[in-house]
Amino acid sequence: MSDPILTSPLSSQLKAHTHAIHEQLDHAIMTAGMFSDRPGYQNFVLVQYRFHRDLNALYGDPALARIVPDLPARNRFAQLVEDMADLDIPPPEATESPVAHDPSEAMGWLYVAEGSKLGAGILTRLAEKLGFGASFGARHLQPDPAGRSRSWSAFQEAIDRAGLDPDRCVIGAESGFTRVIDYLGSVTSARA
Ligand code: HEM
Repeated sequence: MSDPILTSPLSSQLKAHTHAIHEQLDHAIMTAGMFSDRPGYQNFVLVQYRFHRDLNALYGDPALARIVPDLPARNRFAQLVEDMADLDIPPPEATESPVAHDPSEAMGWLYVAEGSKLGAGILTRLAEKLGFGASFGARHLQPDPAGRSRSWSAFQEAIDRAGLDPDRCVIGAESGFTRVIDYLGSVTSARA
């Protein structure tokens, strides 16, 4: 009998393979008090800034935009630059982006960022309680113009029909999640 994970669409495979690491990340964010006060939220924005800076070039990659046509418009790095300025967070030193150039791995990284826009629906409401929103401090958490659900479905459909290598895509997604967890570890240990 064939393995149901291996025969399902790429987006379902990505979800299944990264379920545990996503849970680990959600838990780490929520227990680190990142939505309890301004310093916690500043740490969250710094983590997001670093991760999206790593991805900035991928969102402008023409080969990847042939798979997801509105890819450049999905990029949240400019909003993160503004959120950093709103919150008086100095941009950290540039580091080399670890993102792979293989298109399947690269799309795995982008899956992490695009999927995070679903969880951002919850996080937006928590950020609002701290006084941050679409015009100050939480610009990057706002939904894409099509809405969270439609934007996510369009991304899933695009990657599902692209003929990408599922194994390499999963490697990219796992690397993306690990990168966010590493950034989280560096800000939370600095605060402790
Ligand atoms: C930067 C941090 C985060 C990243 C990178 C991230 C990543 C993702 C990804 C890739 C997905 C798509 C899963 C799929 O394939 O359907 C997702 C969905 C989701 N995330 Fe997160 N997430 C983050 C933080 C959070 C947090 C803190 C919460 C909870 C408070 C959360 C709650 C959710 C929820 C509710 C969904 C939708 C699940 C579903 O519809 O089945 N996320 N996230």
